[in-house]
Amino acid sequence: MNVGVIFGGRSVEHKVSVASARTVSRALEDAGHRVVPLGIAPDGCWVHHDLASRALAGGLDDLPPVGAPVVSTFGHLLSVEVDVLFPLVHGTWGEDGTLQGLCEMLDLPYVGTGVLSSAAAMDKAVAKQLLQAAGLPVVDYEVISRGPWSEDPEDGLSRLGRFEPPIFVKPSVGGSSVGISKVPDKSCLRTAIDLALRFDDRVIVEAGIDGRELECAVLGYQELEASVLGEIVPGKDFYDYADKYLEDGAQLLAPADLDDGTAADLRAVAVDAFAALGGWGMARVDFLLEAPAPLAPVPGDGRFYINEVNTLPGFTSISMYPRLWELSGVPISALVDRLVEIAVERHRDRRRLDDGIKGWIAEVSSE
Ligand SMILES: Nc1ncnc2c1ncn2[C@@H]1O[C@H](COP(=O)(O)OP(=O)(O)O)[C@@H](O)[C@H]1O
Ligand SMILES: [Mg+2]
Repeated sequence: MNVGVIFGGRSVEHKVSVASARTVSRALEDAGHRVVPLGIAPDGCWVHHDLASRALAGGLDDLPPVGAPVVSTFGHLLSVEVDVLFPLVHGTWGEDGTLQGLCEMLDLPYVGTGVLSSAAAMDKAVAKQLLQAAGLPVVDYEVISRGPWSEDPEDGLSRLGRFEPPIFVKPSVGGSSVGISKVPDKSCLRTAIDLALRFDDRVIVEAGIDGRELECAVLGYQELEASVLGEIVPGKDFYDYADKYLEDGAQLLAPADLDDGTAADLRAVAVDAFAALGGWGMARVDFLLEAPAPLAPVPGDGRFYINEVNTLPGFTSISMYPRLWELSGVPISALVDRLVEIAVERHRDRRRLDDGIKGWIAEVSSE
């Protein structure tokens, strides 16, 4: 099939997306597909195919801004012949339902989950509410909104009295740890909230968990499956922006060293979490596993919480999502091939549902 790989984009994860697209393109070709490179510059413009091809071939690590009205560059997307789209744009304007909406309007099958679950997973406040409603474990949190906060910060702070340091403060919509603070002292809460409000109008304040960070890859359509677990060991106080992209201190361990019972629980909850957000295709579900108290009466690992669900996980050669599937017996070429297959199945089902509606309208109209 002709697969349009969409990469780059406006978010801070532009470079990661280029690297992800290279890995995926090679895997798609190994699986017998033809790759059509579709690049989005940091200013949102769709770039010329030659430039996109050069980036995929390794000649460019990021796409230069085009400096034109975005809409005037859509010709680069519309002129290609593709059977399926493979969006690989991480973060905002890519992972948040917007690009998925564009794919829907183009009436093309696309890899990954749909508009609603993309948007819900991207918004940490919405995702937590849906996960909680499904009875799944999330850490204790509060949402602070810009309007009430700017009017009466004291009232906002009074709702946060139950949290004891370390407290995490993060923009509700975000990624790459941008705008996230680990607050060591309650007197720093106000500054941390103001910082997070630079990146979104709503901010999450939540209990910091002293423990381990685990990740699980989920894949499927009508039935979702979970991979083995991986573990991130941050090189710093927490897995912040510098630790993710600027320094080389973090360790990505796979498979994670876990007892069988905890691993099975995490895998089951990973599937339930993605299902609770209405997802299909792929997701990486990230967990926080509390360290057991030193004098815990029962030995073993502590409680765990879903930290977040990423619907467009990193796909570089060292990224957890493809690594965890590889370790679970699904090599990357089979993985991307399955994702393309799911995209086609989903598109077919969507058409069938749409035909069903039209057929029903025709029936009732002719009665
Ligand atoms: N409640 C928490 N307790 C402990 N560490 C946390 C907590 N929330 C976030 N972190 C740390 O901050 C990092 C980034 O937070 P996360 O919610 O995953 O945001 P992002 O979407 O930017 O990746 C996590 O990988 C983890 O290291
Ligand atoms: Mg994260």
